[in-house]
Amino acid sequence: MGVALVTGASRGLGLATALHFARMGETVVAGVRHRARANALGRAAAAQAVDLDVVALDVTDAASVDTAVARLLDGYGRLDIVVNNAGVGLWGAVEETEDAYARILFETNVFGPLRVCRAVLPAMRRQGSGVIVNVSSIAGRVASPFGGVYSATKFALEAMSEALHYEVKPFGIRVAIIEPGTFATGFHDQRLIADPDDASAYAGLRRRWEAASARLPGRDRPGDPATVAAAVYEAATSHAHPLRRLVGADAELIAQLRRDLDDADFEQTVRRALDFWE
Ligand SMILES: NC(=O)c1ccc[n+]([C@@H]2O[C@H](COP(=O)([O-])OP(=O)(O)OC[C@H]3O[C@@H](n4cnc5c(N)ncnc54)[C@H](OP(=O)(O)O)[C@@H]3O)[C@@H](O)[C@H]2O)c1
Repeated sequence: MGVALVTGASRGLGLATALHFARMGETVVAGVRHRARANALGRAAAAQAVDLDVVALDVTDAASVDTAVARLLDGYGRLDIVVNNAGVGLWGAVEETEDAYARILFETNVFGPLRVCRAVLPAMRRQGSGVIVNVSSIAGRVASPFGGVYSATKFALEAMSEALHYEVKPFGIRVAIIEPGTFATGFHDQRLIADPDDASAYAGLRRRWEAASARLPGRDRPGDPATVAAAVYEAATSHAHPLRRLVGADAELIAQLRRDLDDADFEQTVRRALDFWE
């Protein structure tokens, strides 16, 4: 049993993960961007009769990250597991993505985990132990139309995690990357939309891609967030865990095609499966 910090715990995969860890007997510090949005988390914890220590933690704000981690270390004296889960999505063509939206994505999905890692690693190195689980996505392996900037953040998170894995292992610290497919959270509804305008040069293509990708296996039945929570827990507690783990049948299928085919064959397969030609 240890002390686990989960970011983005107000809802979705972070909420499910915080509750799962608490049910498994870990001491959970649940980071929420705004305390006012922690009601669903509080109600779910009460319903399951588990205790959570809810703290304000906005991953885009260095002072907020440092304060939350300093208080955690003051209170518990140690930190065994960090789950970098907080994230935002963005839907839209690369050309139509303004800097302001791209910055929100990178601030949250890349600089956020980087800030958290910088804040927690000195304590983990002193302890000689710790695990960092970074929640990426199948989009961290494969980029698809209108998901380019989101994928760019997850590719960046994967690169950082892979390097970190080598760097911190000699200090007794493990890194794991979780790559979910599609899961039933508010993620889709909350994502930023680069250009919702029907006059966009990409509007027709975007509608076709949306309709076609909805036909992918499993897309009509998004997975249960509890599956990701259990995978994150396994990544955090199993010493033999690989660096990367896909979660969900859709993620596994896409990753397998990507592994088995060269670039040209992969592109043809995607275009044929989704009937997406110029
Ligand atoms: N759901 C999927 O299908 C899926 C698939 C692959 C990967 N993922 C990844 O899984 C992670 C969780 O996504 P989800 O599906 O649970 O989405 P979600 O339901 O939209 O939840 C996102 C969480 O991140 C928090 N957050 C956003 N910006 C933050 C910030 N600046 N500081 C702290 N917290 C912040 C949100 O807090 P607020 O309540 O304050 O907004 C919320 O708790 C993300 O990294 C996402 O990229 C999700």
